[in-house]
Amino acid sequence: MTDIAYHPTRLRAVRDTFRALRATEFPWTADTVYLNNASIGPIPERTRRALDEFTAKRTAPHLLPDRELQAGLQGARHSVARLIGADPAEVALATNTSHGLNLAARALPLKPGDVVLVSDREFPANVYPWLLLEKQGIGVELAPCGAEGWPDEDYLVERLHDPRVRVLAVSFVQFSNGYRADLDRLGAACRANGTFLVVDGIQGVGNSELDVHETPVDILACGGQKWLLSPWGSGFVYVRRELVPALEPAVTGWMAFEGTDDFSRLTDYNPTFRPDARRFEMVTLPYQDFYGMAESLQLLAGIGIADIAQHTRALHEPVLKWADENGVRVVSPRDEAHRSAIVCIAPERPAEAYHALKRAHVVCSLREGAIRLAPHCYNTAEEVERVLDVLDQLE
Ligand SMILES: Cc1ncc(COP(=O)(O)O)c(C=O)c1O
Repeated sequence: MTDIAYHPTRLRAVRDTFRALRATEFPWTADTVYLNNASIGPIPERTRRALDEFTAKRTAPHLLPDRELQAGLQGARHSVARLIGADPAEVALATNTSHGLNLAARALPLKPGDVVLVSDREFPANVYPWLLLEKQGIGVELAPCGAEGWPDEDYLVERLHDPRVRVLAVSFVQFSNGYRADLDRLGAACRANGTFLVVDGIQGVGNSELDVHETPVDILACGGQKWLLSPWGSGFVYVRRELVPALEPAVTGWMAFEGTDDFSRLTDYNPTFRPDARRFEMVTLPYQDFYGMAESLQLLAGIGIADIAQHTRALHEPVLKWADENGVRVVSPRDEAHRSAIVCIAPERPAEAYHALKRAHVVCSLREGAIRLAPHCYNTAEEVERVLDVLDQLE
């Protein structure tokens, strides 16, 4: 499992496998040090080829019969399900993370006086859909972070004892510091209190293991554009099996209803939602993007998320060591239970450091006063050394 570090021999084998991938799937890495997966993940070569093939057919639509298009979407649902340990019937395809978070805000059974607990400093996609509920008399509480700026899980669990708290909304991994929530703990506490656990998964799914049938998450929203190495416009929402029939989306697509697979009788309206998570989809979906996503997910499944987690966390080690030796604050957690693929450091003059890295062709991000380094499977220890060389010259 992710939380137990690999033996060095195994880690070396993973590194060698990943190094071989660079040339075949990410050839541009020969010129650029890209440590910015938490912003945008690259499209692997195999996915680009699949997209090109699809687009070629798209020029002449008769080459893309409806049956094939629908089978492509179903393939994407299956790939997502395999990735997170879900059943395909629990997966709705979505064009971004926000779709799933809005679904949660609008479809969960909330009434005036109820409270939604959101950890402070969440990415705004997981804040604004909840704040809109205040107009309906639903309270939104921003739970204060701990001293380090991470979600305070003790406080969140404590707060769940209040029966008015009906939803806890938190990111799997925080965008600005890489803190990975203990979803097992939060999920169990939510379950015990009858509270819904809604998770923004985009910064964790693809770099950290998650099995939704072991971890009691109710709704998980995730865009494909970052760690899933997938096109913009791809993503998904997972809705726990028991919740699917109970939730009615506030806005609907026409294929969310029974009988709409038969295009010869579309005006035989039947306002019965599908029994599975397709009731949450907004068709027409960008078929090409999901075709691409399925290809990228196949690549990730072949590599294995556990290996990605181990590899990326091993790449952080020299950064942590350098920070300690130079008295630079590490903004990210170091314990195995809360690490992710994102590591953030806060040198004295972060903007200066960021611009120096940019000049050295190192792509990373400046977030909330820290340099965010977000490696994926294609990054190497030599690239991390390059980052440290640049930072050394600043000190
Ligand atoms: C935690 C988090 N949630 C959501 C998003 C993006 O949301 P969406 O996929 O709706 O654009 C980002 C980054 O862009 C993010 O870091």
